[in-house]
Amino acid sequence: MPTTYDLVNSRLAVAFDSVLAGTDPVLRPSERCDYQANGVMAMSKMLGKPPREVAELVVGALDFADMGTVEIAGPGFLNVSLSPQFLSNQLSTLLNNSRLGVDTAPSENVVIDYSAPNVAKEMHVGHLRSTVIGDALARMYRFKGHTVIARNHVGDWGTPFGKLIEHLLDMGEDAAIATLSIGDLDTFYREANAKFEADDSFKERSRLRVVALQTGDPETRRLWRVLVDQSVAYFSEVYAKLDVLLTPEDVVGESYYNDMLQAVVDDLQEAGLLVESDGALCVFPEGFVNRDGDPLPLIVQKRDEGFGYAATDLAAVRDRVTNVAAQEILYIVGAPQSQHLEMVYAVARQAGWLSDSIRCEHVPFGNVLGKDHKMFKSREGTTVKLVSLLDEAIERADSQLRERDTGLTPEARRELATSIARAAVKYADLSTERQRDYVFELDRMLAFEGDTGPYLQYAYARIESIFRKLEVPVALDATTFTLAEPQAWQLALGIIEFPVAFDSALRDLVPHRLCTYLFDLAQRFTAFYDACPVLSASGDLQRERLALCRLTGDTLKLGLSVLGIDAPEKM
Ligand code: ARG
Repeated sequence: MPTTYDLVNSRLAVAFDSVLAGTDPVLRPSERCDYQANGVMAMSKMLGKPPREVAELVVGALDFADMGTVEIAGPGFLNVSLSPQFLSNQLSTLLNNSRLGVDTAPSENVVIDYSAPNVAKEMHVGHLRSTVIGDALARMYRFKGHTVIARNHVGDWGTPFGKLIEHLLDMGEDAAIATLSIGDLDTFYREANAKFEADDSFKERSRLRVVALQTGDPETRRLWRVLVDQSVAYFSEVYAKLDVLLTPEDVVGESYYNDMLQAVVDDLQEAGLLVESDGALCVFPEGFVNRDGDPLPLIVQKRDEGFGYAATDLAAVRDRVTNVAAQEILYIVGAPQSQHLEMVYAVARQAGWLSDSIRCEHVPFGNVLGKDHKMFKSREGTTVKLVSLLDEAIERADSQLRERDTGLTPEARRELATSIARAAVKYADLSTERQRDYVFELDRMLAFEGDTGPYLQYAYARIESIFRKLEVPVALDATTFTLAEPQAWQLALGIIEFPVAFDSALRDLVPHRLCTYLFDLAQRFTAFYDACPVLSASGDLQRERLALCRLTGDTLKLGLSVLGIDAPEKM
């Protein structure tokens, strides 16, 4: 269904066009009226007529009586006020629309590269951001009707595996598996590193092991698989704890591309892009220079003949276009990898793998900081385990609930605490402008007041409790809205804005815009609920107010769910 915004905008566009062909209004929601339209100024310059006169021409050409009224304001703004009748019709349509006005788009194949932790290494807060943002975007794309192909590009290849496998052998396979399966990945990694630094014979064994791995020695490959499988099983536990949709099938790690690397080199060779530099094979993509203005290389094959991170990423783009038939590829990766990825895309374009019709984009994000506004570290100065953060959030949410007599069984309370903790952590991450850093502060994130996940969950649960308190159910599908109180009117304007907010957040890949919208809607609801009692009202007025509650609740629930946040019925 067309959104209210679209309906108003297209009606105005006709009038603009009739005054001066090719000009469009720019509409934005306004506090004073319902929408304010810009564009008259620009037109007046082009026509060489005073803005006021042009505004009058537009209004004269406008056919708007069935939607509301348009008035000229200031030097040339157009203030749009909707009629109650029109707004009421819009709300009625939404009441019977489970998508709450969000249209589906023609389906495209969208590859989203996200999470991507490294085998035998702990997931840290950087992976939290990639995972949470990637999951939200995956859900939003799916809701829009696209086919999302998740690619969990785990770091499962390279020289570190020499020492990791040797360490596994030293420990004994069973003991190593036991350590890894309890998720103590960092200890395992640290011990392997320490031996590598201290013991020359271990170093030599590790070096030989890398060769054995690369040449496909079966026993070495088996041991490598043990490490990968243990780690993936552990990552899956973290994903379950976070409630993100990634599965082991989405793990398409760096090693997956091994067999394609030679073809990548051949393709680049054939395209005449490969240059030998210091014994390494490189591509110098157009437009990338260092500070001195010298061209920057993307190293495809190192001097020792090994392929690196860049070659794998090149093979991945090639595979995603040719085999996965991706029409859009998104990389949810931290901002520091921006230049690397841009160079990969540039080479992929020059090699002819990526055509201009494919949107291939880095979706960068900022850092998670500690309370001291420095990089988030544990008290011991090590990186913070993602799971411990979540566990702590669950603990705190649980003790908050224990203080409030909820009447829940310990199991039910634990489940609710888990849901609140996830909401807190995910919302704090998603509601921050993506590129900005944020401070990880559990107390703020878990608060029931302010711009937090639990606040939005609570707003939803409060609406559900209104319906539970109703003695007789009220049928809402045939509601007429009078919207007499300004708070009801403002709430209605908020509700009809959902598809606009959703589409704009998806288009610009900025989940925080949807968060801002939901928070604003919850606040409009609070103002409405304070001014317009629901349970003590009766008849048509109660029906109308209940319908506004229903629409708000549904919008909050749907909006949170496409962000990967669930909304419990009771809190
Ligand atoms: N494994 C990498 C890391 O932990 C992230 C990989 C990102 N994805 C990619 N296609 N390069 O930093």
